[in-house]
Amino acid sequence: MTTTPKRYTITAALPYTNGPIHIGHLAGVYIPSDIYARYQRLQGRDVAFVCGSDEHGVPITIKAKKEGITPQQVVDRYHTIIKKSFEDFGISFDIYSRTSAKIHHETASEFFKKLYDSGKFIEQVTEQLYDSEANQFLADRFVLGTCPKCGFEESYGDQCENCGTSHNATDLINPKSAISGAVPTVKETKHWFLPLDKYQPWLKEWILESHKNDWKPNVYGQCKSWITDGLKPRAVTRDLDWGIPVPVPGGEGKVLYVWFDAPIGYISATKEWAAEQGKDWEPYWKDKDTKLLHFIGKDNIVFHCIIFPSMLKAEGSYIVPDNVPANEFLNLEGNKLSTSKNWAVWLHEYLEEFPDMQDVLRYTLTANAPESKDNDFTWKDFQTRNNSELVAIFGNFINRVTVLTHKYYDGVVPASEVDFKELTQMQEFPTQIGEAIERYKFRDGLSSLINLARLGNVFLQEQEPWKKIKEDPKAVESIINAALQIAATLAVLSEPFLPFTSDKLKNMLGLDANIDWNQIVNRETLLPAGHKINESQLLFSKIEDKTIALQLEKLEATKTQNAAQNKEVMPQKDTISFEDFTAMDLRVGTILEAEKMPKTKKLMVLKIDTGIDVRTIVSGIAESFEAADIVGKQVTVLVNLAPRALRGVESEGMILMTENDQGNLVFVNPDVTDIGNGNTIN
Ligand code: MF3
Ligand code: ZN
Repeated sequence: MTTTPKRYTITAALPYTNGPIHIGHLAGVYIPSDIYARYQRLQGRDVAFVCGSDEHGVPITIKAKKEGITPQQVVDRYHTIIKKSFEDFGISFDIYSRTSAKIHHETASEFFKKLYDSGKFIEQVTEQLYDSEANQFLADRFVLGTCPKCGFEESYGDQCENCGTSHNATDLINPKSAISGAVPTVKETKHWFLPLDKYQPWLKEWILESHKNDWKPNVYGQCKSWITDGLKPRAVTRDLDWGIPVPVPGGEGKVLYVWFDAPIGYISATKEWAAEQGKDWEPYWKDKDTKLLHFIGKDNIVFHCIIFPSMLKAEGSYIVPDNVPANEFLNLEGNKLSTSKNWAVWLHEYLEEFPDMQDVLRYTLTANAPESKDNDFTWKDFQTRNNSELVAIFGNFINRVTVLTHKYYDGVVPASEVDFKELTQMQEFPTQIGEAIERYKFRDGLSSLINLARLGNVFLQEQEPWKKIKEDPKAVESIINAALQIAATLAVLSEPFLPFTSDKLKNMLGLDANIDWNQIVNRETLLPAGHKINESQLLFSKIEDKTIALQLEKLEATKTQNAAQNKEVMPQKDTISFEDFTAMDLRVGTILEAEKMPKTKKLMVLKIDTGIDVRTIVSGIAESFEAADIVGKQVTVLVNLAPRALRGVESEGMILMTENDQGNLVFVNPDVTDIGNGNTIN
């Protein structure tokens, strides 16, 4: 970090298009990368901030199957939602592309071919896991099993979500098909492998030696553990039909592994952007003076620190990342965020429910970002941060100073004769905040920013211009002038964190929208005496308890829904022999009489005509059926069950019951479909 790079290539993990964006994605990847990119642009630096949709991979085909639509329909739907929500949220990508774009298919194919032609792959026929029920090879998320590194029982075929390790599906212990639940068989198939072991010495030197002090400890630690364990060749092709076709002989019917093509998406997106801008894309990826940065979540570390850099190294003409500032995970109200369980605050919903409040979410997620450990988002904290920080400190200060300027001076900046100590203190903020951002300490940067607003607030509180205006109007001129300079500084320094607020504030103060960071560092006076400011508006407004209660209710509803869907399934009992089965004497009987057993909740005493005899059976169905409704019904009876007494009544057999798809108790009945609680289904 001694010399300033010539340009910045900043990538944000390409989101999978199998669901919309939620607050976990924002806090982990998109807000930090956006703060960084905006800051560098404000410094006047050459920035390419690229992202796009990750449209291949197994999760998308699983989603399509589940919904009975095509993978293309899935990716089109989510690409549109995601792209729009990023725009509306103010994530300032220079380009948001997608991996189904033609330029990406071409770029990824060429990349693969170049490695193939220069002999960088191992071509190998190996046995891969196969689901013979579904007639399909099992790779990646199609297979679950125990992680060979950490013992987590639900590891995917290519990566363990628990420890982050990447492995081959055949390394899993007790693998199970995610499609059919079947135990996989194996089948021979040819694939191309990238021999990561060959890059191990280079990786060791590049990461473990050169980046010991500048990479985040969580990132460095994971890399160290994998490199020390020893790397193995990884298959970069798959037997799937959704993805980029393998462009070499023998590749028919196969596609590139999604983690081979997706990171190349950063390059394709840069090419697309450069073409639009009439620029050359290559320096952004090949010039040593470019600083390449990958913003990601911690589950992506292995791909961005080990696999993609090895691919870039193998290709030979590319630079490798200068840093990979990965974040840990954000939880929501104490539970892990989950797209499939709908446990999330969805960005597109937030934008609808909280219009013009992008910065409140940006603020909360940055103040509470999972920079060095997992963190929790709570709606209560969201409310508190808004009400007692944004409204009470930032908003309050701006409101006071602008309202007073209008009240005393008709909105014209008064002249100053005093050099307040607060103005000297203010000079430290741009450097402090800038350094925090350069070191990826966005929480610290934001807390400095709010401290500057606090400084302004305290300044007004101590000076009390509203008291001095009568006896010492001259002094008030200097006070308001100083407070306005603090407000102007806040307008510029808040841009990376709170871009909407910054815009509003610049507007309100009548500042040029393009003021840059260095004008502040160089102590330029942004609001000279005589300058006229615009009308005062509120920057933030209080969030009421009922708004928060509504969000919490929404989450409660999700919990209830999930509980209904996830009713515990009892594991299968020990097997019985065929003889055990045929020993059961099952008959169709008719209920002749029914009577609820007094003083019990569940029991009903039935008289059943079994075809052999009429007998008494006590059954636990009283909560589901009214006695009068079931007389005359046909039921299946196990007649040779040993008799036993229930509350003094001898029961001679058992009625077979089951549950229907709505969870209601129903009789196992040869031709009638009667269910409990008086409902009838067809
Ligand atoms: N789609 C991946 C995820 O959501 C991230 C892909 S990042 C890229 O975890 F490097 F592959 F682009
Ligand atoms: Zn693991």
